[in-house]
Amino acid sequence: MSAVVTAVAQKPIVLGVLGSGKGSNCRALIETIQAGHLNARVGIVISDVPEAGILELADKHGIPAFHIPPGRFRTKFEPERERMVVEALQTYGVELVVLAGWMRMIKSTMLNAFPRRIINVHPSLLPKYPGLRAWEQALLARERITGCTVHFVDEGMDTGEIIAQQTVPIVDGDTANNLHARIQAAEHALVPQVVQWFAEGRVA
Ligand code: GAR
Repeated sequence: MSAVVTAVAQKPIVLGVLGSGKGSNCRALIETIQAGHLNARVGIVISDVPEAGILELADKHGIPAFHIPPGRFRTKFEPERERMVVEALQTYGVELVVLAGWMRMIKSTMLNAFPRRIINVHPSLLPKYPGLRAWEQALLARERITGCTVHFVDEGMDTGEIIAQQTVPIVDGDTANNLHARIQAAEHALVPQVVQWFAEGRVA
């Protein structure tokens, strides 16, 4: 008698995507899912910026999208507001939180609710050039190679454990804008790749 192998389709991992900007990384996730290369579903999108493109993108794709005002702080959410973010993520069954251009620090309310389940994409080869406009920092430092990093989020700024990186060359005559575009193209492949590792249980 021959062995019968039953392929059991894995349930898609449910993502909560947080972003403050135009949402090109969120778009890359959606398109990779639609292409059948990523076993995930974007369950909710949240932004701290009411006019952020990422909210419009989510709307266009029928994904629940919410603006949650951060409160009185400039670099993080007030704890009460961060609790609202957590509640929204939990309401939509989120299993993995993806910070895709999220420009605020994450604090204990969220970290405790999603232990080792919050990842961030950053446009440099961390630990080099954390913080704002990392591609410009690399350009000004006359680097020949930069790149992007996907890492676990902790309380620090771009300091969490690194999961994956992709290098990107800096070429003569590069401007900040075209370098950032080249880095973003690398991010659009790296982020879905890392999320797929989570979906397959390959990142613990
Ligand atoms: C991305 O390049 C991401 O690496 C960066 O913001 C951009 C968001 O673009 N994040 C940071 O700098 C965080 N420190 P997107 O809105 O088009 O995805």
